[in-house]
Amino acid sequence: MSERNKYSRVILFQSYAGIELQGDCPYKSCYAKAVSYGNAANRLDHISRSRSFYDCLRNPSSFMTIITFMALWTALLSCNICAANGLAKGLIKQSVSQQVRATNDHQTVQNNFMTDTTGGKDATGRKVQALLSKMTLEEKIGQLNQYNGDWAATGPVTRTVQDKLQQIREGKVGAVLNITGTAHVRQFQQAAMKSRLKIPLLFGMDVIHGYRITFPIPLAEAASWDTTAIKKSARIAATEAAAAGLNWTFAPMVDIARDPRWGRVMEGAGEDPFLGACVAQARVRGLQGKGLGSLDAVMACAKHFAAYGAAIGGRDYNSADMSLRTLWEVYLPPFLAAEKAGVATFMNAFNDLNGVPATANRYLLRDVLKGQWGFKGFVVSDWGSIGELVQHGYVMNDQQAAAAALEAGCDMDMESHSYIRYLKQLVQEKKIDPALIDEAAGRILRKKFELGLFEDPYRFIDSTRERLTLNKPENNAAARDMARKSMVLLKNKDHLLPLSAATTQCIALIGPLVKAKKALKGFWSLNIDPNEQIPSLWDGINAEAPKARLRYAKGCNINDSLRLGFQEAIEAAQKADIVIMAMGEAPDMTGEAKSRSNIHLPGVQADLIKAVVATGKPVVLVLMAGRPLIFNWAKDKVPSILYAWWSGSQGGLAMADVLFGKYNPSAKLPITFPRSEGQIPIYYAHYNTGRPATSDSDKLYKTGYIDLSIFPAFAFGHGLSYTTFSYSHFSWHYCTYQNQPAVAVSFALKNTGKIAGAEVAQLYIHNIISRPLRPVKALKGFKKVMLAAGASKNVTIYIARQSLLSYNEKLEKNVLPQRCQFLIGSASDDIRLKSAIIDHLFEKPPGGTR
Ligand code: NOJ
Repeated sequence: MSERNKYSRVILFQSYAGIELQGDCPYKSCYAKAVSYGNAANRLDHISRSRSFYDCLRNPSSFMTIITFMALWTALLSCNICAANGLAKGLIKQSVSQQVRATNDHQTVQNNFMTDTTGGKDATGRKVQALLSKMTLEEKIGQLNQYNGDWAATGPVTRTVQDKLQQIREGKVGAVLNITGTAHVRQFQQAAMKSRLKIPLLFGMDVIHGYRITFPIPLAEAASWDTTAIKKSARIAATEAAAAGLNWTFAPMVDIARDPRWGRVMEGAGEDPFLGACVAQARVRGLQGKGLGSLDAVMACAKHFAAYGAAIGGRDYNSADMSLRTLWEVYLPPFLAAEKAGVATFMNAFNDLNGVPATANRYLLRDVLKGQWGFKGFVVSDWGSIGELVQHGYVMNDQQAAAAALEAGCDMDMESHSYIRYLKQLVQEKKIDPALIDEAAGRILRKKFELGLFEDPYRFIDSTRERLTLNKPENNAAARDMARKSMVLLKNKDHLLPLSAATTQCIALIGPLVKAKKALKGFWSLNIDPNEQIPSLWDGINAEAPKARLRYAKGCNINDSLRLGFQEAIEAAQKADIVIMAMGEAPDMTGEAKSRSNIHLPGVQADLIKAVVATGKPVVLVLMAGRPLIFNWAKDKVPSILYAWWSGSQGGLAMADVLFGKYNPSAKLPITFPRSEGQIPIYYAHYNTGRPATSDSDKLYKTGYIDLSIFPAFAFGHGLSYTTFSYSHFSWHYCTYQNQPAVAVSFALKNTGKIAGAEVAQLYIHNIISRPLRPVKALKGFKKVMLAAGASKNVTIYIARQSLLSYNEKLEKNVLPQRCQFLIGSASDDIRLKSAIIDHLFEKPPGGTR
């Protein structure tokens, strides 16, 4: 523990207990330890009865209060560090919950209650301090308050506010969301400029995959495994958003998701922590550009902290319950990556994690994020999530909710109105420490300074820039390119694809999504321009194959039981040379609060596919959806399947590019596709178990099902190309990479087909022996390599020793596998090269036992 942190605890203790410590008092460390244990005791108290350490001291009524006081008092009186240490430890030993114990054991976690003072010592910190010193308590609380605007609601409106603009003029609002467009934003900022201290507002919105020009949904973009393209997509989104007056987006969503029933699976980068971390960094860097203060950069927001993607049963907002080791191994890496990339803000998750709602979770917010990771930005609640602490059953009322969230480290209240209503009263009644309000306001003001809003509150509000920046043709081209890079060719029997525009005479286009336009933008496209021209798949194919005759039959709706259009579809197929079927979900079937228990193709679409395939005509199936769907019959019987996801405003053209070979598909699945909901959660990085099953005929006393395959429909990393690649000449050696000990894994990659194409070569570590256990396979690197027909290239992937470490039971990241193997593959189930088995990596020279 650093001196600084010890000291901050002492300060805290002073402020709580009203005790003055002068200069270098020798009792400081003693107090610090006692306070630390007091805090731990308080956490238990807090977890069990929703009361703070402060409450304990103010309202000495509980057993834990007595423990807390005894620990502190003993330390104070005896001045004996060991005694205080021992007593306090002994007192809390039996009762501290597993979560708290793990927190305390985690050697690098700093347990200080208040991890950041209001400003810091740099120039911005001094400005923050100076401003805070002029602010009233109400004005500081105002900075912590975020209201939804008057345009759209992206959550349940539980409380109406009569006159938001008036409250802004009174300095009672620090940020608004869902106000966009320079004219509208200006109106709100002008109101803020009428407040006493003229503190500018922040304007946030969910710019999830594009502002006006819509890119593919984030899960689709992750399928590109192309972090340069993903960064560019985020850059364009930020440029448009900043030109429309926004300075903050609630993206990227970096939740790992292993349950495709969960509707929000569409918003993240899939199931893998390594890929998820790479994508998180790319998105943060894209959104924040050259840094806050640039006119084309917006603050990014890593959300939802944490473990929202582990919602039990895939039901949105549901609890997450997991070991802290799994939290650190699987769910936190993308958040840490976002933090390292300089993300300005974090958003709380709605869920509780191991019994503590994320919004009031000190372990996540104080110990990990603001403590261990040293995060200097601010944390915003999710929509209404502070008020929801009452529904969780964590606190009695909104007042307690406000106290619990602020104490835990949630700096800004999005739309629960709890901070603005109750924080002042809580301070007046001495139920919360006003220093906590200074800390939260200081963090928010720092970002306003960094954005340059104090120099010019209207700097993002320029209608000419808005007009010139939105809908630029080159950005449409980038969206089209991103879309085709995101589409996964799942199957291509007998090279049915690509189609030839020159020789295909008659194409039947069948299905409810052939002419979909706005739907291509998916669930999270909030900024719809009614005049926007969105090409459908039909339009794309018309443009790509102008000489071909196209026949259209809708066949059925997306999600009902009507079969009236089947006959027309069959006739269209019979008259065609080839059939392209466009099927899938409606955009409002995947997204927030859009969990589904049944993720098969909805309605009668699967039956329509069977009816059309029965005509004997060659069928290409294009699937559009926000999540992995189940389509087992089609998977076996339809020769070619392209997974196009929700591909954005240029998706119609991009699908045609891929179908006609203008673009050779290169995407790989970032998430496993199950065969049945019964397999969920299913992911490639599982543990071996004591009775691993290796095949579906190997069921007796094995880890499997008696009525279901253990294998997915399509594995993580799967995706085909119109060309083929061979892998050879494997080698590896120790090296130094970016000043760190690392291994370099090399191999030769050759394009063995007749057309140029890109391959995503994937490097996994196969963990054979490790204590604690590690997944059988874990992605540790990848490279997307473009090769001309017949060309080959030597590829090297570096893995830092640090990224080969995993956590032990005490959450110390220091475990290397005792026995392992490097694998290079084209997919997690298509491994092409293997190293010999390696014992004691980094301790022994390269080589191996086999
Ligand atoms: C709730 C969602 O969970 C979050 O991701 C979003 O940013 C907010 N609503 C604001 O729209």
